[in-house]
Amino acid sequence: MEITVIHGVRHKGSTYNITKKIIENLSNNETVINEFFMPTDMPHYCHGCLNCVLKGEETCVHYTEVAKIVSAFDRADIIILDSPTYVMEMTGQLKAFCDHLAYLYMPHRPMVSMFKKVGIVVSTAAGAGTGRVTKSLESQLHFLGVPKVIRYGLNVYACKYSEVSEELKVKIAKDSEVIAKKAIKALKNPKPTIKMRIMFKVMKTLHCKKKLCEIDTEYWKESGLMKGSPWKKK
Ligand SMILES: Cc1cc2nc3c(=O)[nH]c(=O)nc-3n(C[C@H](O)[C@H](O)[C@H](O)COP(=O)(O)O)c2cc1C
Repeated sequence: MEITVIHGVRHKGSTYNITKKIIENLSNNETVINEFFMPTDMPHYCHGCLNCVLKGEETCVHYTEVAKIVSAFDRADIIILDSPTYVMEMTGQLKAFCDHLAYLYMPHRPMVSMFKKVGIVVSTAAGAGTGRVTKSLESQLHFLGVPKVIRYGLNVYACKYSEVSEELKVKIAKDSEVIAKKAIKALKNPKPTIKMRIMFKVMKTLHCKKKLCEIDTEYWKESGLMKGSPWKKK
């Protein structure tokens, strides 16, 4: 099994430590783990040129960094996104990375491999906001085509992991086990939500009617997304 993790910050605080526990529960000797830290692994903001969508992703000036992470997404069975809650949102550096993935969004050129993956999203906060952050991270993965996303948010009532109570650390250990079990079970047949099915159908119809970008419609045809359901078991 391969796991790709995008950490929303580069320091190893409460959020990192929860993700680490989940990874430990998911892994065995053969598990390959690809970890990326923001902003170290994507130190640029999107320029907003839209070249990735309109002319092809290789034309993005940050393609070297994007390609490395996208290739790790493609290989992964499980994708984990984590972020501490910063003013009720994901961190700016994680959002800046997500902006670089616009060309992979469902209306454009989603990777066919994404439709078979399981996502896990994690956020911590001192007291409020993890619900908004995990929903937002879940949405990012759904738009990339990932059908099943497990959300985990926790108020740690602390600014540092060393300040998190022992009681909460016991809870984190138990919850991580449950999340890992759920993810492994979901991998056998990741089922999309109704909202995702509808979104896919609408995009497919629009591509059939040639109402969207030509380069994207060509991709939908060539990748086989026009035929059947990308979630069907083979
Ligand atoms: C810039 C900034 C903004 C924050 N905004 C919130 C917030 O909106 N709600 C909250 O409960 N905690 C907020 N916090 C606290 C962190 O979310 C919390 O301490 C979190 O567990 C830190 O995770 P980490 O140890 O992985 O960095 C904020 C912290 C920082 C540095």
